[in-house]
Amino acid sequence: MSEEVRIGVFICDCGSNIAGVVNVPAVVEYARGLPHVVFVDEGRWSCSVDALNTMKQSIKDNRINRVVIASCTPRTHEPLFKQSVKEAGLNPYLLEFVSIREQVSWVHMDMPEVATAKAKDLVKMGVAKAALLEEGEEIRLPVRTECLVIGGGAAGMTAALHIADQGFSAFIVEKAPDLGGILNRVNVVSHDRHSVTAADLVKSKKEAVESHPNIKVFKNTMIDSVEGYIGNYKVALRSNGDGTLKRLDISTIIVASGMREIEPAGLYEYGVDPRVVTQLQLEERLKGGSLKDPGDVVIINCVNSKNETRGCCTVGCPVSVKNALAVKEINPDSRVSILYRDLSMVREEHFQLDAAKAAGIKFIRFPDRSYPELVKKNGSLVLNVHDLLSGRDMAIPADLLVLTTGFCGDESVDAIKGQLKVSSNKDNFFQEAHVKLGPVDFPSAGIALCGCSKSPKSYKESCEEAMAAAMRVSIPMKRGYVEAEGIVADIDLADCNKCGLCHKRCPYSAIQVNEEKEPSVIKALCKGCGLCAADCPQECISIVHYSDPQILAQVDAALEHDPEKKIVGFVCHWCALGGVDMAGVSRLQYPPFGRLIRVMCSARVSIKMIERAFAGGAAGVLVAGCEFPTCHYITGNYAAETRLKRAKKKLAKLGYDPERLWNTWCSAADGPKFAGVMRDMAKALKLE
Ligand code: FES
Repeated sequence: MSEEVRIGVFICDCGSNIAGVVNVPAVVEYARGLPHVVFVDEGRWSCSVDALNTMKQSIKDNRINRVVIASCTPRTHEPLFKQSVKEAGLNPYLLEFVSIREQVSWVHMDMPEVATAKAKDLVKMGVAKAALLEEGEEIRLPVRTECLVIGGGAAGMTAALHIADQGFSAFIVEKAPDLGGILNRVNVVSHDRHSVTAADLVKSKKEAVESHPNIKVFKNTMIDSVEGYIGNYKVALRSNGDGTLKRLDISTIIVASGMREIEPAGLYEYGVDPRVVTQLQLEERLKGGSLKDPGDVVIINCVNSKNETRGCCTVGCPVSVKNALAVKEINPDSRVSILYRDLSMVREEHFQLDAAKAAGIKFIRFPDRSYPELVKKNGSLVLNVHDLLSGRDMAIPADLLVLTTGFCGDESVDAIKGQLKVSSNKDNFFQEAHVKLGPVDFPSAGIALCGCSKSPKSYKESCEEAMAAAMRVSIPMKRGYVEAEGIVADIDLADCNKCGLCHKRCPYSAIQVNEEKEPSVIKALCKGCGLCAADCPQECISIVHYSDPQILAQVDAALEHDPEKKIVGFVCHWCALGGVDMAGVSRLQYPPFGRLIRVMCSARVSIKMIERAFAGGAAGVLVAGCEFPTCHYITGNYAAETRLKRAKKKLAKLGYDPERLWNTWCSAADGPKFAGVMRDMAKALKLE
């Protein structure tokens, strides 16, 4: 026999923050009458130490087995209450959080009655979900201490050294016959360190790597296959020479595969006239000493970059100035001109600019949309350029024309992408999990990226990022395991038709299929976004804490009374709820019709949930997620957007006005945007 559901509801006054607007005693009385509720308490400051101790005691005394907290926002206080619930002997996943401060008292300050009614609704929705909550558990996977580093350039070698110095094993796989990567083509990394050449840097790193007892280097070798997941990768390496295979058991991976110049084919006679070269080709000449008498040198920056196709390469300007100085050192009488659009010298190399001006290097700024033109006069190269600063048209002769061209990821990226199931951008640079939250992480746990495999970088930046990547993968190796939150997918194979959609759609490769095409969830890799559950045609995937029945119960509870005056809003826990909270913190006042349901990601919202809201009579439905491309589950908002288009078609077929389904994508700072959407919806749906 299943256990009796006994819900305790704890409603916070938050001093006068909530109680100053909401009639909390009335909400308390209302909650007492809700199904399964056996205990209700009003707390002045529910998050205070005393109140938490009282709550723990109340849970024990009243044999409460589900808890609803109605107070501030779960984004700040849920962990605290979860811990208290745990200390009271309950599974922390048996807690539901209702926000009656950010979503009620702070945004409906002048309408206490309406605010109180809304608070009652939100508590009712929380209780409806709490009645269906099930226990969850954190999941652990063992992780050993072997790290594979893909790429033996500056970043790869630095990462390997930092792994190895901690006592872990690092295996560097380098496709070239030697270590060093792009640095092998570079003259010096910075003008001030002229005495330390790039070759010196490579030499010292190489010696450190090759003499380190914890590092093994596989040169002239490519990855043949990678299978598995964090703590359990089976990697096969293939020698470029004799094709022999080497198999390794690996726990974590760092990608440092580097970058290459984009050949400026078809531009400025590159590839046709040998006097036209790229910066790297110039570096090679400088390094090899073959540039004896440079003559007049003209450098054009932002070739193939900072345009509609790609942004600023971020390294071109310092490189152009550094190399111009190197040319001047060979022959101080050489006339060297840098033709530029903007000079981006934000790094510490900024001092080079002063040195370049002192050395007589000319800086000529040309208009964004009017690049210099190359003409040949009696076989000589001449650049016609409009100088923005003087307003003059100039003709500059060149014995050597150097193009500062954009960069793209290494040729090996396509193969690595497939092997690791990660993604790259259109220039074949690998994409991190999240610009701000996971800058050196891939979405899959245990794989980090660094250096120029992600974007063009200076030597210093590459090394710094390599250290960061090494530290990221060291965390689970040091700990010995990886642990995932209990909000994970669960597949009921009884109804599964083995279509494989969940396996294909999972952004984290957390769903694997066996030879019989049966899917299974590697729970330690699952992040609980719910994309698979929302798309499963058989509806056989459930998400712990965000199951279909739980969410639908919230929808039904929200619409029990006066549904035609309600907007059911599904908001992702991250940016969208952040925007909602920001509206509250900023005390932005907006119409009180929204009844918000938290999901981890907008990708969790199925068409069925939207239909259920309309079938229940909702005036409108809002799906709110993170703005593009910052979904916390990589592609969740894209999946949600696609699904919303299908939902609109389906609603139309069912006879509902699809214009009543809205969506918004916002950042966590977008309080005004969320408040604006609520105002616009209220107006469009004629709720005011
Ligand atoms: Fe916000 Fe995915 S987490 S939309």
